[in-house]
Amino acid sequence: MMWYQTKAAQILGIKYPILQGPFGGNLSSVELVSTVSNAGGLGGYGAYTLSPQEIIEVDKQIKAATNKPYNINLWVSDNDAVNGTVSDEQFKQAEELFRPYFDELGITLPEKPGVFTSRFENQVEVILHQRPPVFSFMFGIPSADILEQCRRLGIVTVGAATTLDEAIVLESAGIDLIIASGFEAGGHRPSFLTSAESSTIGTFVLLQLIKEKVKTPVIAAGGIANGKGVAAALALGADAVQIGTAFLATDESNATNVHRQMLFSDAAKYTTLSRAFSGRLGRGITSRIAKDLLHKENGLLPFPLQTQFMSHIRKAAIGQEKWDMILFWGGQIAPVLKHTKAAELMKAVIEETTAYFDHLKV
Ligand SMILES: Cc1cc2nc3c(=O)[nH]c(=O)nc-3n(C[C@H](O)[C@H](O)[C@H](O)COP(=O)(O)O)c2cc1C
Repeated sequence: MMWYQTKAAQILGIKYPILQGPFGGNLSSVELVSTVSNAGGLGGYGAYTLSPQEIIEVDKQIKAATNKPYNINLWVSDNDAVNGTVSDEQFKQAEELFRPYFDELGITLPEKPGVFTSRFENQVEVILHQRPPVFSFMFGIPSADILEQCRRLGIVTVGAATTLDEAIVLESAGIDLIIASGFEAGGHRPSFLTSAESSTIGTFVLLQLIKEKVKTPVIAAGGIANGKGVAAALALGADAVQIGTAFLATDESNATNVHRQMLFSDAAKYTTLSRAFSGRLGRGITSRIAKDLLHKENGLLPFPLQTQFMSHIRKAAIGQEKWDMILFWGGQIAPVLKHTKAAELMKAVIEETTAYFDHLKV
């Protein structure tokens, strides 16, 4: 048996058990997904901000770019605001917290956002209609009815856990594969049973805890960017790995050039878990605004309303090249990144892992 012939690879119908982590917030690209899938891994597209029509479009484009399996990702829970809104007082309080940044950038504060309604139900209809080979999700578990339809349609389901308890709940729901999402990872912490702050377990501990109690194959995610990381995850019982930050840094992702440069720069040595950027806890490269807001989290708006402030700041800060006012998403492993081409990253990860298992020098 070769190292890559795992149960997860078999279930997903791919050669190498290497998943490219889906990126929400418009950072995924069809080119990245198809490059990874065509190289024998599983490309993933983060679609939680897309409209149903946009998901149909993306799915068609991916199908045209690869005939290999791929993954589309949604957020099951995508709203923390009660009735999709906040009181005028709460909004005013947040305005005061953010006014200095708007003043610094010379832009006006945004209006109070309209009522937000969850997008998940309409999005998942598209998944069931378009039938991507793999449907991964985070922030919860879809209903039994949706999971049953996926099974019937042959769509493989993949859910994310940040604690052992979450993995156990995912297993009892009958999910095909479970992601052990360690706190090293870039992007949001997808906790759904208790707060993200109290669910900060590292990938390699979480993986081992889950392996003790859960039979469903596990995908290790967080802090893996090369063959050594893959070999370590497999040694600890992972059936596959999901690599995010390393793929985000490649030319094929939809990240901006500045974002990619930041991931390859010295700045990437320091990352922060912050709620300031969306209202939910996520990891990105430490910036001035991330540091400023770390202990002022009570004044923030709930997800996703908080993005109302941050998207305006971000847009103006990019225009004025004020990089310290932006959170560039990224995980703790960024300082070891080497590759700027997704196909080369895939090739290197596969060769390094093979060399490791052949007892060659890596
Ligand atoms: C910018 C960014 C956005 C992400 N968005 C999503 C998402 O929408 N859905 C999801 O399941 N995972 C998301 N992730 C997590 C990745 O898919 C992956 O699990 C994680 O990045 C792995 O850890 P690493 O960054 O240390 O490699 C995101 C990660 C990053 C860096």
